[in-house]
Amino acid sequence: MEVAVYLSTERQSFFMKTMPKVIKVSLFYIILDIEVRHLYPFKTLEVTMNQVIETLKQHTSIRKFNGEVITESEQQAIIESAKRGATAGNMMLYSMIRIQSKETLKSLAHSCDEQPFIENAAFALLFVIDHHKWQKYFEMRSLASRIEGFEGPSVSDFMLGMQDATIAAQNAVIAAESLGIGTCYIGDIMENYEAHKVLFNLPEYTMPALLVVFGKYDHKPKLRSRFEDKFCVFEESYPEVETDFLEEMFREREGENEDFAYKFYMRKKDAPFFKEMNRSIQKYLNEWKGQLGRK
Ligand SMILES: Cc1cc2nc3c(=O)[nH]c(=O)nc-3n(C[C@H](O)[C@H](O)[C@H](O)COP(=O)(O)O)c2cc1C
Repeated sequence: MEVAVYLSTERQSFFMKTMPKVIKVSLFYIILDIEVRHLYPFKTLEVTMNQVIETLKQHTSIRKFNGEVITESEQQAIIESAKRGATAGNMMLYSMIRIQSKETLKSLAHSCDEQPFIENAAFALLFVIDHHKWQKYFEMRSLASRIEGFEGPSVSDFMLGMQDATIAAQNAVIAAESLGIGTCYIGDIMENYEAHKVLFNLPEYTMPALLVVFGKYDHKPKLRSRFEDKFCVFEESYPEVETDFLEEMFREREGENEDFAYKFYMRKKDAPFFKEMNRSIQKYLNEWKGQLGRK
């Protein structure tokens, strides 16, 4: 049974759609046998057969959805997986807002730096850094009058909320991918402070950290390359990063693109969206100074 879930998503869906049950069952065992006995050497079986790792290693962002429905039980499985992520002090310093409204998705396609594919998602989850509920709770229990120097949320609370929200979002992404559902993060949700506060009715001590859009898809793009281990996985301490290191690290990217550094900087960091992101995040951060009654 453990091996049953290992079969690739494409193979599973082909299987489910086209075969009568009897053939399905027999074929299943034949394919299983081939996969187990012939494709993988027994020594490495334990690692290669782990479906979680297989799902992780096959990740690609999906930006073209086919409009198929994602069932309520699939959505609930994704939400439940997100909630099971580790969370600092078990505080869950984040909230999820599920977005199924086409109107809202359309509005986000516009407000998140004009990315039309957002509108075609089956649904989206907005992961919001959230200290609003804890702060109100502390106030409800009159902590301000009982604790000298009682403070509001600080930048550390903000960072912990960001970490909690990110862990939950990535759990949701992996859960979805394991179900054959495509995902894409939308970082531009951190832009447009004023519009997004109104769109989602966000109170103080909250900030939209990550938007993840979900949808079924027909084609999976090729895996995008990552830097080799020697450039990003260090043993015990950080190495000296000299010219040679960087020349080698960026050789592939520069090979594909003349004057890569300049073009990359201009496209990402000098772009209007990035300036807007900086402005917007600064406005959110103004609330997280620990001082109550600022403003
Ligand atoms: C924090 C974050 C924000 C992102 N924002 C966007 C976005 O706004 N639009 C988009 O199309 N992709 C976005 N992505 C997806 C990245 O572009 C993608 O992960 C990267 O290019 C690597 O491709 P891959 O996910 O297919 O491996 C984001 C990813 C992360 C982690």
